[in-house]
Amino acid sequence: MRALLPEPADDVDVHAFYATDWVDTGGLRVNFVASADGAAQADGRSKGLQTSGDNRIFAALRDLADVVMAGLGTVTIEGYRAIRVSPRRAAIRREHGLRDVLPTAVVTRSLRLDAGSSLFTDVVPDARTIVLTCEAAPVDRRRALAEVADVVLCGDREVDAALARAALEERGLTRILSEGGPNAFAHLAAGGAVDELCLSVTPLLVGPGPTRIIVGDAEWDAPAALELAGLLEEDGALFARYRMRGTIASSGPRESMGG
Ligand SMILES: NC(=O)c1ccc[n+]([C@@H]2O[C@H](COP(=O)([O-])OP(=O)(O)OC[C@H]3O[C@@H](n4cnc5c(N)ncnc54)[C@H](OP(=O)(O)O)[C@@H]3O)[C@@H](O)[C@H]2O)c1
Repeated sequence: MRALLPEPADDVDVHAFYATDWVDTGGLRVNFVASADGAAQADGRSKGLQTSGDNRIFAALRDLADVVMAGLGTVTIEGYRAIRVSPRRAAIRREHGLRDVLPTAVVTRSLRLDAGSSLFTDVVPDARTIVLTCEAAPVDRRRALAEVADVVLCGDREVDAALARAALEERGLTRILSEGGPNAFAHLAAGGAVDELCLSVTPLLVGPGPTRIIVGDAEWDAPAALELAGLLEEDGALFARYRMRGTIASSGPRESMGG
């Protein structure tokens, strides 16, 4: 893999590339893969878009995260299980000052989750799955999931992005990796909770049909500007690291973003 930006270089250290301005500062980064025509799925899942470079970056971003966050759709369709950190990956995490465990946080209002699934039963100590939900969630499901997970109320009718982020940060989970999906990303970005977008662009035209990396009914008043902080390339696939430069509502500068 080679870097095109910020400095051209061959054989890039992917971890070093994504650890810069991240490990020490923390933040919320969103990771997506899309086709050149903007599809977020091929055959209903992201798998058809993945490349070997994207898979390596996906793993590296997990290595550099305190928590993996995802919406219920992604957790269900992609079959999320509790994340077991292998000894090899734990060693990489330690090199960057991260703990050996990587909990998952699911964003959901309906709580349509099976309390007996691996997402809850296969967790290691200190990595209970976190369920980020809201007051409108069914009370009986809240009670059932509270037996096996940390259920956190973050808002009334839907999960408020800022409250969800704060709930994770209060638990010391300050390097937050969101793996989507498009609905969850829309809410996070509209809520001003996103610092960074890591976007893999696969050299493929999927054609009409699939959704983009942002969909749904989140309020979106104006385009939000992105700053390209870095760009990698491998076999024609591009891997961009964008920083958010403005909020969705105002497009004004974000105080939290350094240069
Ligand atoms: N290309 C990629 O990199 C990539 C990445 C991830 C996913 N995907 C693809 O995207 C598709 C899934 O899309 P999706 O948009 O359904 O996934 P999603 O955003 O993961 O899940 C959407 C669901 O999560 C819950 N949710 C999200 N934000 C919420 C909020 N603020 N408050 C309350 N609930 C919230 C809602 O579920 P409830 O209301 O039912 O609780 C909502 O219907 C799959 O095909 C997957 O393969 C692609």
